[in-house]
Amino acid sequence: MCSGRSKVGSDVSTFDFRVTAAADILLIQMETGAGKKRIILLGATGSIGRSTLEVVENLASEMEIVALATGTRWEQMLEILKRHPARAVALTDPSAAEALRQSLGRDSAGGAGQPRVYSGAEGLVRMVEEAPAETVVGAISGAAGLPASVAALETGKDLALANKESMVCAGRILNRIARERGRSILPVDSEHSAIFQCLRSGRREEVRALILTASGGPFRSAPRERMARVTPEEALAHPTWRMGAKITIDSATLMNKALEIIEARWLFDLPGEKIRVVIHPQSIVHSMVEFVDGSTISQLGPPDMKVPIQYALTFPARRPLAVARLDLAEVGRLTFEPPDLERFPSLRMAYEVLEKGGTSAAAFNAANEVAVDLFLKRRIGFLRIYELVEHVLSAHNVVPDPTLEQIFQADRWARDEVNRIQA
Ligand SMILES: NC(=O)c1ccc[n+]([C@@H]2O[C@H](COP(=O)([O-])OP(=O)(O)OC[C@H]3O[C@@H](n4cnc5c(N)ncnc54)[C@H](OP(=O)(O)O)[C@@H]3O)[C@@H](O)[C@H]2O)c1
Repeated sequence: MCSGRSKVGSDVSTFDFRVTAAADILLIQMETGAGKKRIILLGATGSIGRSTLEVVENLASEMEIVALATGTRWEQMLEILKRHPARAVALTDPSAAEALRQSLGRDSAGGAGQPRVYSGAEGLVRMVEEAPAETVVGAISGAAGLPASVAALETGKDLALANKESMVCAGRILNRIARERGRSILPVDSEHSAIFQCLRSGRREEVRALILTASGGPFRSAPRERMARVTPEEALAHPTWRMGAKITIDSATLMNKALEIIEARWLFDLPGEKIRVVIHPQSIVHSMVEFVDGSTISQLGPPDMKVPIQYALTFPARRPLAVARLDLAEVGRLTFEPPDLERFPSLRMAYEVLEKGGTSAAAFNAANEVAVDLFLKRRIGFLRIYELVEHVLSAHNVVPDPTLEQIFQADRWARDEVNRIQA
């Protein structure tokens, strides 16, 4: 079950059937070798981007990268192009795009053997619209990924989504576009991939709760006084996952779990009351679904993002993947504990956002993005992140059922507001 094809409050069997039918066609294509699945990878130089490239290399007979996008790191893009000779490349930083063009030794008009280079945020969207592909992997960090997510679905591509901020800010709109275009939004986030897999054990009306696991981050048991003195280096040292800087700080504040609660609300079209969080420091159980009959189904595995990335790209098939194998006897103990909402107010804020609805999620997300950036630049302390986000949440004038433009306005307002009070 995944959101893209769900009708709000609709019968899950219709929904499952449509996702499965599309996936079966993919499976037949893979097994008969009838054309490779064409993939546009956004955020190619990042942590998810690099793992996606490995997954595609592992399944080179079944899929290929046809277009790539990133923000600034054009030298890395040049290296990626040697292994994945894509036909189009977008860099949102115009000077980086220019440097790549020069380095490729030609202008942006494209031509035989050389990729066409798109520049700027508009260039990124244009590339997603124009490049022929079946699937877009959205792995840009932050709300900057939203316009490309919209463009992917609008132009009839499936969206394998790591960029949770897209879903947080505009879940209702993305679901609507996916439904109208008959496309799917496939979760890449490990927790949501786990839930996606567990949901195949039952029907929507049989679900009692989605249970997101959280490692608890590096300050899981740190007293508040200690948290007040946390440095960026300490916050960047995640105990179980290796990820980009923004999501690593979000994991330390548990803002990541807050974003995931909102993401789950839209991906699986279930209300906040049915979404819970449990702390699980070993990051082996990636999430669970509790059904009405008292059964709880979970998905387990070593923490490696290649697993959910590959599943999103091969669904409903599973393909061999060279990752560390889970040896539960070696792991020994799996522990679970309730989250501490006093020390980590982020989770409480997520439910408040769901309650308020409308543009509050975009404002919440944008405030957090700016606050994380300020923390990484050592301009604010760790606990100030919560204060700034809380302030924005209470000061924001919520627009119910917003348009995309109103979502972008809320995002801009929240960024300005954090910068104003922090100046
Ligand atoms: N890492 C994980 O394990 C993980 C797990 C679950 C979900 N996610 C989600 O996946 C997304 C990416 O995370 P990550 O850890 O891979 O982040 P990352 O390592 O920081 O990489 C971010 C990527 O996005 C690009 N980017 C940033 N701003 C951009 C912009 N304005 N326009 C175009 N490209 C831009 C970066 O390009 P340059 O660096 O070249 O500028 C880079 O390629 C996030 O939404 C995160 O929450 C990540």
